[in-house]
Amino acid sequence: MSVEIYLNKGIKEIITEFPEIEQILEEYSIGCGTCGEGLCQLKDILDIHYLEEDLETELMARISQVISPDKKIEFPKRKRKRQSPKKIKYSLPMKKIVDEHVLIKRWLALIPKVTESLDLETEEGLQLINNGIDFIRNYADKYHHAKEEDEAFKYFDKNLDMIKVIQNDHTRVRAHVKEMLQAIKNKDKKALAEHLKAYSKILPEHIKKEDEILFPWMDRNLSTKQVGQLYSKFNEIDEEYGKAPQKHRNFIEMLEKKFC
Ligand SMILES: [Fe+2]
Ligand SMILES: [Fe+2]
Repeated sequence: MSVEIYLNKGIKEIITEFPEIEQILEEYSIGCGTCGEGLCQLKDILDIHYLEEDLETELMARISQVISPDKKIEFPKRKRKRQSPKKIKYSLPMKKIVDEHVLIKRWLALIPKVTESLDLETEEGLQLINNGIDFIRNYADKYHHAKEEDEAFKYFDKNLDMIKVIQNDHTRVRAHVKEMLQAIKNKDKKALAEHLKAYSKILPEHIKKEDEILFPWMDRNLSTKQVGQLYSKFNEIDEEYGKAPQKHRNFIEMLEKKFC
């Protein structure tokens, strides 16, 4: 069978045929087995995850060993742009959204404490959780996810598996936020805690996928002109939001003082 057939096959199909390949991919931090979509072809995975060249050669040798133990498959060498994944160098617009993740991660770290001390009866308790939801809806979603979805993604095919995975995460997060609002209305602490927990489980992995896989891949595929356009668009959005992000930053700092 020719090599191209495997390079052009969907990874889920390859894993079904050769289950040990899932484990091998995981050893290189490529979690296709647990990916919600799994429609990427083997060649896309190499491009998306962009391992260092020697690691990629080693990985392909191991995959070849599984697919064809008797005869080594020679996978063609791909053209590569120089980049070390250990030290990702983002373009200016990507750096902006990577930096925004830092505040979101600080919020995620606070969620267990916020959940433990939920209080839906007092003015102060309600104020705190409402500010938390305001952070999720207006900073993490409207301000940050909108930069991703409305601006960065528009340069790419929305049907790409990788973009669909990220968009599905955003949709799942929004569904939990809706439930959180309902739980506050119903004064249902248990439901609120459950949805906060579910939310805080989705986002760390989501951010990792963006920082380590999606954004570097976008940077490799955007032209210099597009990077420039994206950067001015992000700056426009920042101007439009004015001091609002600082208000959210102050809220996170206040929570850290309170709980840490
Ligand atoms: Fe995102
Ligand atoms: Fe993000």
